[in-house]
Amino acid sequence: MDADRRKEIIATQKPEIPWANEPMMGSYYGEEEFEAVRREMEACNHPHIGFDANGPTVQEFEERFAQWCGAPYALANNGAGTGLDLAVMALDLEPGDEVIVPAINFKAAALSVLGQGGTVVWCEVDERTFQADPEDVERRITDRTRAIYPVHMNGMAAPIDEYLEIAERNPHPRHGPLKVIGDAARSCGARLKGRRVGSWEWICVFSFHTMKNMTTLGEGGMVVTQDPEAHEKMRKIRGFGGDIWGTNYKLTNVQAAVGLVQLERIDEMLDRRRAVAAERDELLAGLEEITVPYCPEDRWHTYYLYTCLVPEAWAGEKRDRVREIMDEEYGISCVVANPPCYRSNEFLNQNTDHSDLPRSELLGKRLLCVPIHPLISTSDNEYIAAALWETVERVREE
Ligand SMILES: Cc1ncc(COP(=O)(O)O)c(C=O)c1O
Repeated sequence: MDADRRKEIIATQKPEIPWANEPMMGSYYGEEEFEAVRREMEACNHPHIGFDANGPTVQEFEERFAQWCGAPYALANNGAGTGLDLAVMALDLEPGDEVIVPAINFKAAALSVLGQGGTVVWCEVDERTFQADPEDVERRITDRTRAIYPVHMNGMAAPIDEYLEIAERNPHPRHGPLKVIGDAARSCGARLKGRRVGSWEWICVFSFHTMKNMTTLGEGGMVVTQDPEAHEKMRKIRGFGGDIWGTNYKLTNVQAAVGLVQLERIDEMLDRRRAVAAERDELLAGLEEITVPYCPEDRWHTYYLYTCLVPEAWAGEKRDRVREIMDEEYGISCVVANPPCYRSNEFLNQNTDHSDLPRSELLGKRLLCVPIHPLISTSDNEYIAAALWETVERVREE
């Protein structure tokens, strides 16, 4: 993008929505969602019916979601944080059991391991895809390892097929092949080798939190599994147990009604995200210091985030200078998602060994996520790209 064009765009195309970070509403609603809420509320507003979350709407949402992502069982719940707790509860960890978790991550997966008395063993990620590096995962397996716990980072599927092979090759002495649990909170709809995430893992967890690819009125999630026993156990825990401990992690039926409509809309919303990303890749082509998101041929990226890298020489200070100028001068805030998560969570910092993660430490200083959303127009996308060009050229000279 040449300098004259950039200046013209910046002078004339300032977006009405100040795109920032991970936008607070990751999906969008239309009349269909409003109608679904009204319909569900009217149907439940009766002394004999009420808003019982065990009713048919939640069940229909579970069945349709399971079918859509290609998993035999699905359990709707109130968020991915509790969904990850359910998954680790299904593992039945014993003290000293280890679970391998990528360090470049959101905090929830590691917290769910500590919450069940397990030990977090951090691993490095691939520096192009930001997914748990299979070689490093295998290197960190011991005879206490029970599970490999990758996040499908920032909208892309992790190479689950490779972790499954590693899990078979390195069985636990008593429990057999390691379990593979996926955190797909940011990657609803992502595909590996043509199959959606959720169809590969022992258990996979989705979020419908307000920022995510599809949303159910602020909070919500889904836990899918291939394993009928794990499904039954998690179902009991979600609804106050029975012969085992339980609590209440249920999704409301009004949320499920919205989820059913969002599920009809998700492919369209993901196509829009992908179109914004492809257009931006072109707009940024030639801007040397910015490595745009890389996607291997066997993946279908949902672009929950548009995750860029700055050069090693810009790690830390210069990267932060780019963020500062983008924010202060152009009104576009760029999030860092995520530095090693023990750096942003004191509990993880104190309760995990993070002494051997040089690659993650460096990546945490180079990541730069430029705002993306299915409703970003070509004009807004041009503004964001022009702002980044101008900013980078300025930081280059400083
Ligand atoms: C990767 C990842 N895992 C888990 C969560 C937790 O999701 P929820 O807000 O639905 O509990 C998030 C939320 O931001 C996330 O990004």
